[in-house]
Amino acid sequence: MTDRVQVYEVGPRDGLQNEKRVIPVTEKIALIDGLTGIGLAAVEVGSFVSPRWVPQMADTAAVLAGMGWAHDTPVAVLVPNLKGWEAFAATGAPVSEIAVFVSASEGFSRANLNCSVAESLTRIAPVVAAALADGRRVRGYVSCVTDCPFDGPVAPGAVAEVVRGLRDLAPMPVSLGDTIGAGTPQTVGAMLDAVLEVCPAADLAGHFHDTGGRALGNIDAAMEKGLRTFDSAVGGLGGCPYAPGAPGNVATEVVLDHLAAAGIETGVDRDAVARAAQRARAMKAVAA
Ligand code: HMG
Ligand code: MG
Repeated sequence: MTDRVQVYEVGPRDGLQNEKRVIPVTEKIALIDGLTGIGLAAVEVGSFVSPRWVPQMADTAAVLAGMGWAHDTPVAVLVPNLKGWEAFAATGAPVSEIAVFVSASEGFSRANLNCSVAESLTRIAPVVAAALADGRRVRGYVSCVTDCPFDGPVAPGAVAEVVRGLRDLAPMPVSLGDTIGAGTPQTVGAMLDAVLEVCPAADLAGHFHDTGGRALGNIDAAMEKGLRTFDSAVGGLGGCPYAPGAPGNVATEVVLDHLAAAGIETGVDRDAVARAAQRARAMKAVAA
């Protein structure tokens, strides 16, 4: 049987949240509309976080109101707390997946969520319950799965513990984030050995930022451990607030070509991704 990988598009959220310029809603919608209905596993289109923390995502309700829905691609948004859940719920948008996010390291948890790792799990518990009760799927993210910009290398056991903490809330799939792109195939492999003790590979995704230029190698390492879902951002949108000038999430088109060269199917329309990547690169060029 041909090997198959799911590609989960996070550019409109993870990419655009890191662009210096706040992209106009109409441009975001045009990008998103080019990414739905083309075979991607899902498209993450924004987040309901504090606009003081991430002003680039403050218009997510307007994005949901304006984007097209005549397609079968699951659409996802990030929600950090009940206030975000209420703001999302008020939109009435047919979003299928809510993403909650925590960190494996205390330093990043403080910087990103203004609370400890344990507090973050407590904070998202009612969000997970509300989303499931409302018929949405829930995805969990863990940041800093190999390295933290504040605490340095992260112990594999700490990642496994927070994955277990998420899945104690509900049996959700978990995306493992190399937030600053400092991971290597070795550290990713060691981290996965620990995480696979608490979660099957089928419920895990790899979320590699390409800051260190090793994202493809890290995807290969994760595939060797059995993972078959990878997050990416069209056009390599985004950057890293902790490494000015560094590339963002691994580019969707680069991942597709890498997988295709290895004979792995994704079911994604490569030409449509190329068109969206062109649009994304134009956004980056203006933003630079
Ligand atoms: P806080 O300041 O501790 O929150 O931030 P608070 O509850 O004390 O509220 C402070 C103010 O924010 C209040 O407003 C709240 O109403 C408001 P004020 O009364 O002062 O005017 N507020 C909100 N407004 C809108 N929407 C909300 C919301 N919540 C509170 N949901 C908080 C805590 C979690 C809100 C903040 O830290 C935050 O928004 N953090 C999110 C940061 C973020 O979005 N980071 C990027 C996404 S994660 C990521 O990129 C990693 C990932 O890609 C994986 C990887 O690569 O590792 C997923
Ligand atoms: Mg990320």
